[in-house]
Amino acid sequence: MDKVFFTLGGAEAIENAIKFARHYTGRYKVLARYRAYHGATFGAMTLTGDPRRWANEPGLVGVVRYPDTHRWGEAEPRPVAESLQGLEDVIRYEGAHTIAAVFLETIVGTNGILIPPDGYIKGVREICDRNGILMVADEVMAGFGRTGRWFAVDHWDVTPDLMTMAKGLTSSYLPLGAVGMRAHIAEAFETKMFYGGLTYSSHPVSLAAALATISVYEEDDLIGNARRLGPVMRAHHERLAARHPSVGAHRNLGLFGILDLVRSRDPWTPLTPYNGTSDEMKAIAKFFRENGLYTFAPNNSIHTNPPLSINEEQLAEGFDVIDRALDISDQAVR
Ligand SMILES: Cc1ncc(COP(=O)(O)O)c(C=O)c1O
Repeated sequence: MDKVFFTLGGAEAIENAIKFARHYTGRYKVLARYRAYHGATFGAMTLTGDPRRWANEPGLVGVVRYPDTHRWGEAEPRPVAESLQGLEDVIRYEGAHTIAAVFLETIVGTNGILIPPDGYIKGVREICDRNGILMVADEVMAGFGRTGRWFAVDHWDVTPDLMTMAKGLTSSYLPLGAVGMRAHIAEAFETKMFYGGLTYSSHPVSLAAALATISVYEEDDLIGNARRLGPVMRAHHERLAARHPSVGAHRNLGLFGILDLVRSRDPWTPLTPYNGTSDEMKAIAKFFRENGLYTFAPNNSIHTNPPLSINEEQLAEGFDVIDRALDISDQAVR
């Protein structure tokens, strides 16, 4: 990433990434996935594949879906070759010459901490290169150390053409988002007008917060902390999965983690329907609130995404609350 265009948040970064990709390529279609959240503004909502999109339809013209790495209701990802073939098929049928960009959350966040299997991110990069399509990595949630590397793409040594950032950029103390771009894209806009001015772009107060935040990441080695605690979190996940039959699956990379709850592991039966809830999930969320644990528990999942400054003892305290809450879901196991 050689140059950065600053916005006020993640969704605005996505809007501008769509525009950069369209203006740069002269093509209008953008590909996105179903198990994806990209923000609440109009274009970002259209790229969003999850049910938050439904009330905002019809959306932006030219957004086309390609297959996810993980099917809803299945524990394991699809084989890499199958996922990549799905993307290739969509490109063939839509016409590469009409497609500006492939958007993806490098690691899917609110739709389930879906960690792509090795080979997938590199494969998407290769398909984009072969077809003259820009690869846009949405790192609004996975970026800035969450996974134990500065950016999730670093795990697979891939450089996207555009990268959207927000949240951890200022640790969310002040509003700031960004679109990072490679030199060839930035250079194109040296001579070509970019129709995307924002009154608050590069706001000095937000930028000061970003610089201060980045200094703290470095001085306190918070990225290293996330990396070191990744295996500790995995051990907690494994312990809970061994103790609780309602823990169907668990995933984490660094401090980006999740537990998926089930009524039955075989056949795999999630504790809630898609986009739904259940009495057990409501009771678990209530238990968390009453026991001082603040975490996101959508659908049949419990997100385990603590602050990057957490230590082992605090992590254990959080997992102790989750351990006790899982007695509720265990009662639903058939
Ligand atoms: C992956 C991802 N992209 C974009 C956004 C939108 O960011 P913001 O809420 O700052 O507009 C979010 C917010 O949750 C997100 O998780």
